[in-house]
Amino acid sequence: MRVGVLTGGGDCPGLNAVIRAVVRKGIETHGWDVVGFRNGWKGPLEGDLKPIGLDDVEDILTRGGTILGSSRTNPYKVDGGVDRIKAVLAEHEVDALVAIGGEDTLGVAKRLTDDGVGVVGVPKTIDNDLGATDYTFGFDTAVHIATESIDRLRTTAESHHRALVVEVMGRHAGWIALHSGLAGGANVILVPERAFSVDKVIEWVQRRFERQYAPIIVVAEGALPEGGNEVLLTGEKDAFGHVRLGGVGTWLAEEIAAKTGKESRAVVLGHTQRGGTPTAYDRVLATRFGLHAVDAVADADFGVMVALKGTDIVRVKLSEATAELKTVPLHRYAEAEVFFG
Ligand code: F6P
Repeated sequence: MRVGVLTGGGDCPGLNAVIRAVVRKGIETHGWDVVGFRNGWKGPLEGDLKPIGLDDVEDILTRGGTILGSSRTNPYKVDGGVDRIKAVLAEHEVDALVAIGGEDTLGVAKRLTDDGVGVVGVPKTIDNDLGATDYTFGFDTAVHIATESIDRLRTTAESHHRALVVEVMGRHAGWIALHSGLAGGANVILVPERAFSVDKVIEWVQRRFERQYAPIIVVAEGALPEGGNEVLLTGEKDAFGHVRLGGVGTWLAEEIAAKTGKESRAVVLGHTQRGGTPTAYDRVLATRFGLHAVDAVADADFGVMVALKGTDIVRVKLSEATAELKTVPLHRYAEAEVFFG
């Protein structure tokens, strides 16, 4: 049997741990050949693949990024894309695919399964916004990086009596903002799920200054002011129709400075949240996902995604996993409001 692996969408720490687990168990337990497709769905579209052996995965457990490369290629936006993928798989005698990705990559995996290709999905994203799994790997690492940054920003903010606005990733879901904001003791946390009042933010910031503390405001890149629009870096869209967000932090820091008369700075954590070595938690979760994805392939149980439920790894239908995004419930956000101001 020959099994292909690919990583699609934004990279995240732990992808290599999944690849390593698939290769180790695929070869050592089942005697399979494993091939890696380069750059997400672009690999099977263009026949860009390479064999992956035990030696190739020797030192990759702790390495961030993905040894296979990634892209946001959507084969359903390419003329004859699905037929080309089927032809490439047939030519290279690839019997099944393990697709590691977020909502877009797994959305393609679901459609390909419906079109007769054997795919097992593995959920990844630092945003933790995939339905049907309690956590995705990459999220814990991103939260650690953001929390450490908040800790560092607090001491410089206090020295200079400034407000510090920290913009974190999170297009539609504010999980990174919520968790890093709580862990870092932020005075205001703003998430895409709940439009914010600029006046209320100013009130919280003022209150913090009055108590001689420097306010820390954590804002998700997709957070919106009431009645306002998302702040965009460019109007450009990727193959899945996503625009590039970014800039809400800088905008908010300027509002704070203008309305409080206090110095204010914005820091955009950006891709540092996705880079570098995964935490121990993410290494373990990614490894377990990889091992269970191999089991699903061995059972020819296609059209499923491996998922974390409590402490168990289970299989869920890809259709269920991609049906809707897992956003921050308002009652979870309300818990954090106690610490605002
Ligand atoms: O991985 C998801 C994500 O982190 C989003 O939160 C963010 O909007 C997006 O990736 C940005 O990724 P890129 O710059 O690679 O398009």
